[in-house]
Amino acid sequence: MRVLSGIQPSGKLHIGNYFGMMKPALALQQEHQVYLFIANYHALTTVHDASIMRQGTLDVALDFLACGLDSQKTVFYRQSDVPEITELTWLLSVATPMGLLERCHSYKDKLAKGIAASHALFTYPVLMTADILAVQSEIVPVGKDQKQHLEVARDIAIKFNGQYKEVFKIPEPMIQEEVAVVPGVDGQKMSKSYDNTIEIFGSKKQTRKTIMRIVTDSKTLEEPKDPDTCNVFALYKLFANPEECEKLESRYRAGGMGYGDAKKELVAKFEEHFAPMRKRREELANNIDYVESVLQDGAARAKEVIMPTLAAARNAVGLE
Ligand code: ADP
Ligand code: TRP
Repeated sequence: MRVLSGIQPSGKLHIGNYFGMMKPALALQQEHQVYLFIANYHALTTVHDASIMRQGTLDVALDFLACGLDSQKTVFYRQSDVPEITELTWLLSVATPMGLLERCHSYKDKLAKGIAASHALFTYPVLMTADILAVQSEIVPVGKDQKQHLEVARDIAIKFNGQYKEVFKIPEPMIQEEVAVVPGVDGQKMSKSYDNTIEIFGSKKQTRKTIMRIVTDSKTLEEPKDPDTCNVFALYKLFANPEECEKLESRYRAGGMGYGDAKKELVAKFEEHFAPMRKRREELANNIDYVESVLQDGAARAKEVIMPTLAAARNAVGLE
């Protein structure tokens, strides 16, 4: 099966991104043909500083490669190295009803956060549809917040196929229900725009400090505690195996353990999981030419599937 996902270079990647999208996508690499890309055209809707954009793009490349992206198997590219995607966006726009975009929560949410309304921000879901349909992706691993965008992509594909001819496969979202929403340190959805993230590649010291400020209730050390409503435990579960979870769970319920201890357990798990990746990231950061060559190669391989799709779409609408 063909799998595609993308992530915007619009801030430091965090463990919500990792467990919600990166890990599930990377888990499919050996069995499926995976396409992963850095959505820098998308990020232009909110990042208006060129040097931040360049740095953010490089950071995402390093993050993915450090987290285990296998560039031999997986096609890894920068969206802007395949400008054909923007032409496809236009062809899809003509089959996109206004109402479909007007209903999108993410546009309204972004306005509510104070981002200026722009044409690009509004048509963002059409560009995302083009990303997906251009490679004829069948599966799209994303976090729950992207579900509506996937519905839009499906609707546009069905509309285009019906209005012209069958050009596009209809994509299916793949959402990890058990990690559907990773909570941030304040208990809300972890998101770079809420300033509540635990970065994947923050320094050891910074990570520890962030974990220590996770919000909990104010039960005393002696009191029994409920793991099911605790943000620290929710994050611990993402790292630990079932046996380790059970162990910590009974310590919660027994009382006599403070939240500080649970946080220390989480710090240890975090370190164990990400320390080898941090090391790999440092090595890659010293070899930017290699990273660049991976992205160039990825763009060439992406074009191999995107060019024929674009040609079929151009033909369907009568441009060829
Ligand atoms: P942010 O909310 O920090 O801006 P993005 O919207 O750039 O994150 O999300 C990139 C990917 O990571 C998407 O697939 C998204 O669904 C996933 N993701 C982001 N935050 C979380 C979270 N807290 N829990 C699960 N998945 C998430
Ligand atoms: N909108 C996605 C996000 O904010 C990023 C993205 C752009 C994407 N194009 C995509 C994800 C195509 C999956 C498929 O997270």
